[in-house]
Amino acid sequence: MMIQTERITKSFGALQVLKGIDLSIDKSEIVAIAGPSGAGKTTLLQIIGTLDTPDSGTLTINGTVISKLNDKELAAFRNRNIGFVFQFHQLLPEFTALENVMIPALIAREKASTAEKHAKEILDYLNLTDRMSHKPAELSGGEKQRVAVARALINHPAVILADEPSGSLDTQNKEELHALFFDLRNEMKQTFVIVTHDEQLAQHADRTIHLKDGVVIQG
Ligand SMILES: Nc1ncnc2c1ncn2[C@@H]1O[C@H](COP(=O)(O)OP(=O)(O)O)[C@@H](O)[C@H]1O
Ligand SMILES: [Mg+2]
Repeated sequence: MMIQTERITKSFGALQVLKGIDLSIDKSEIVAIAGPSGAGKTTLLQIIGTLDTPDSGTLTINGTVISKLNDKELAAFRNRNIGFVFQFHQLLPEFTALENVMIPALIAREKASTAEKHAKEILDYLNLTDRMSHKPAELSGGEKQRVAVARALINHPAVILADEPSGSLDTQNKEELHALFFDLRNEMKQTFVIVTHDEQLAQHADRTIHLKDGVVIQG
């Protein structure tokens, strides 16, 4: 089991957003998380991504019980094991595509020359070689999201978490991004957890988990 959540709860003030979430996600699964706005999808993804902490319950990733890590261990764990793709790429505007992709590897203390070689390989795989010296403002929306995927991939994470990754893309770029997720799963056994409103992606996913009012209603 790659990811396991047991009875995860989370409140913001008086509002209980997650009311006991139990999930098990296997290596190389593509799991979609669907549900109405405000259902708690982003909160759940942030908790699985170790960016937020649950009020109660247990999160285990690759055999590591996350609550047992101190802040420094947690930052290192996140850097090495979790890749993020957000709705709005969140690339650093003053850096080139290549530099953006290298950053997580540099944080993981990879040698700069190795990080650069590795980042170029991934960008090449994603058909971005001729775009790599451009800054985000000079890239199309689809290209920016592919660079964000490259950045998520560089440390070979256990899982890539994506929060409405195609939410700001047109139909063609959306379909290309989704096809890329499936290619990465098929060719590299990459695991994905993807919050999405996209019916087609949800249908093609191995499983769709439906969240409503802080509970899993199906899946
Ligand atoms: N940091 C926060 N502080 C207060 N309320 C929050 C916070 N984050 C989310 N919420 C609330 O929790 C609920 C679930 O939010 P969210 O997880 O973003 O839902 P979704 O992603 O499914 O739309 C919403 O009512 C939202 O307003
Ligand atoms: Mg959300």
